[in-house]
Amino acid sequence: MSHPVLEERPLEHGDALNLVRQAVAEAPGPDAAAQRAVEELHERFPHYDWIGIYWVEGADLVLGPWIGPEATEHTRIPIGLGICGAAAASGQTEIVDDVGADERYLACFTTTRSEIVVPILAEGQVVGEIDIDGSDLAAFDETDKLFLEEIAALLAPLRPRA
Ligand code: SME
Repeated sequence: MSHPVLEERPLEHGDALNLVRQAVAEAPGPDAAAQRAVEELHERFPHYDWIGIYWVEGADLVLGPWIGPEATEHTRIPIGLGICGAAAASGQTEIVDDVGADERYLACFTTTRSEIVVPILAEGQVVGEIDIDGSDLAAFDETDKLFLEEIAALLAPLRPRA
C-alpha cells in the first residue's frame, strides 16, 4: 500500500493514537479491532514495514493480526527466544538498531535491518506484544517506543481470552 501524501507528511503521533482509539472503538470485535490497529499504523508510518501483534498463549507467543509485504514463518515463538521472546520475558521494549549484529535475532525477512518489540501489558503481566520490522538501520527511536507503548495500552483489552 502506498500513500505518497501521507509519506511526505505523516500524521502526528497524537492523531494516530486517536485513529487507533477510534478503530478499536468502532470495530465489530477484538480481532477486527486489532487488525484495524495494525493497518492504521502501517498506513500512517512508512518506516513500519511489517507490523504484527503476538499474543501470549501459555509459554509461547502466537501471531495474531499482521500487515506487511510477506507472511512470517515465525507464527509461534517460545517466550525467551529471539528478540520477540526477550521482550516478552522481560516486559521491556527492545529496540535493535542492527538485527545483523544481535545474536538473538530470528530472521524473518531479507529486507529487515532493524526491529522494535513493545510488550502489551495487562494487570502487570505481559499478554502480548507489537513487533515491527524496519528496512533501514536504526529505523526506530525513543519517540517510537513511547508512542507504541501507548498503542500497546490500547491493544491490551483486545487480547484473546479463554
Ligand atoms: N525477528 C523476530 C521474529 C519475528 S519476525 O520479525 C516477524 C525475533 O527475533 O524475535
